[in-house]
Amino acid sequence: MSEEEQPKGLRISPIRDGTVIDHISAGEAINVLKILGITGTTDEELSIATNVNSGLTGRKDIVKISNRELRKEEVDRIALIAPGATINIIRDYHVADKKGVEIPDTLTGVVRCTNPACISNSNEPIESRFEVLPEGLHCLYCDTLISRDITSHII
Ligand code: CTP
Ligand code: ZN
Repeated sequence: MSEEEQPKGLRISPIRDGTVIDHISAGEAINVLKILGITGTTDEELSIATNVNSGLTGRKDIVKISNRELRKEEVDRIALIAPGATINIIRDYHVADKKGVEIPDTLTGVVRCTNPACISNSNEPIESRFEVLPEGLHCLYCDTLISRDITSHII
């Protein structure tokens, strides 16, 4: 059977409880984990599939995190790198909730300001804080604008 004819969902198993992040732009699964602060060194059970066939829309990545339901605040960060992602909350093997991701208005403690003199990079206990604008991330402390390749600046 051709790749297109393969039944959906054969590549990675269903999970019992947790979060499935589906329809991630192909190749961005690793960055999705990074922006969520998931390093793979904790005891979380992860399944990751990249470049999976996705019907008419081409290819996609999928991330499954067992035994953890992501909060909306965490999930919306994903919109910065995978705006078409779908978040599925799985309970007892069933999809209990499904929603899209929304680009957040602000980002706190996620990205490091590129200005070394920014107060968020000092020894003060101040978390970075950015306003999310169409042209990039605007530091609310020093006005630096970070262009949209934000994944290289994730803390
Ligand atoms: N899933 C899973 N474990 C389960 C149930 C679902 O890993 N116990 C995954 C599916 O493989 C799929 C996603 O969660 O990647 C959403 O499941 P479902 O809504 O059943 O799939 P679709 O209808 O294809 O989703 P959509 O309409 O969002 O494309
Ligand atoms: Zn700054």
